[in-house]
Amino acid sequence: MTINYFIRAETSSDVDAISELHHDAFKGDESIASLVPRLRHLDAPFATTSLVAQSPSGEVLGHVMLSHSWLDAPDRLIDILVLSPLGVLTAAHGNGIGTALIARAVEEASVTTAPILFLEGNPAFYGPRGFEPSKDHGIRSPSLRIPEAALQMVRLPSYEKAMTGTLVYRELWWELDCVGLRRT
Ligand SMILES: CC(C)(COP(=O)(O)OP(=O)(O)OC[C@H]1O[C@@H](n2cnc3c(N)ncnc32)[C@H](O)[C@@H]1OP(=O)(O)O)[C@@H](O)C(=O)NCCC(=O)NCCS
Repeated sequence: MTINYFIRAETSSDVDAISELHHDAFKGDESIASLVPRLRHLDAPFATTSLVAQSPSGEVLGHVMLSHSWLDAPDRLIDILVLSPLGVLTAAHGNGIGTALIARAVEEASVTTAPILFLEGNPAFYGPRGFEPSKDHGIRSPSLRIPEAALQMVRLPSYEKAMTGTLVYRELWWELDCVGLRRT
């Protein structure tokens, strides 16, 4: 059966549903549940973007966030975006919701001044959805816990070839031990 949904920005009334959704999608991994509220209130040059996929009856079926981190480039620190977490309710998997949330997140990232959108994940899933291996663009992982092929990126409109270096996550990723834990 096809599941209908539409994508919109989160509102304050989605907070509990988003938390429950990630509990379900990440099988109770509490680090993700802790990450979401901290990302929501990040003090950063870019406001955090938080999108939900909603069913016609109002159920939150999927959620994705875009937030600020840095690229430690040879000549300066560059403000970039990270896509994480991405989760879809287990019962709604395989309906294109994850793909649609990624596409909308890339669209939203493209209208910011960030030159790169990064994520950690399975290239078999993210490659066909527009992500390229970061190592192909001279960008290094911040952790040995991220398999080399898993760190991927989309070059956004303000990207320049000289933007090489190391991805540096904001402090909360380290505080909450959320680096290197993405599953897909
Ligand atoms: C990954 C996730 C967001 C995909 O959501 P979804 O709505 O089911 O995705 P879509 O329907 O758009 O795409 C489904 C396709 O992705 C594939 N896919 C899902 N998880 C995958 C994985 N870990 N590796 C490779 N492919 C995967 C499915 O096999 C399916 O392939 P098909 O179209 O060839 O049948 C969802 O499975 C999820 O919430 N997983 C748990 C949390 C997670 O791992 N999040 C990502 C890391 S932050």
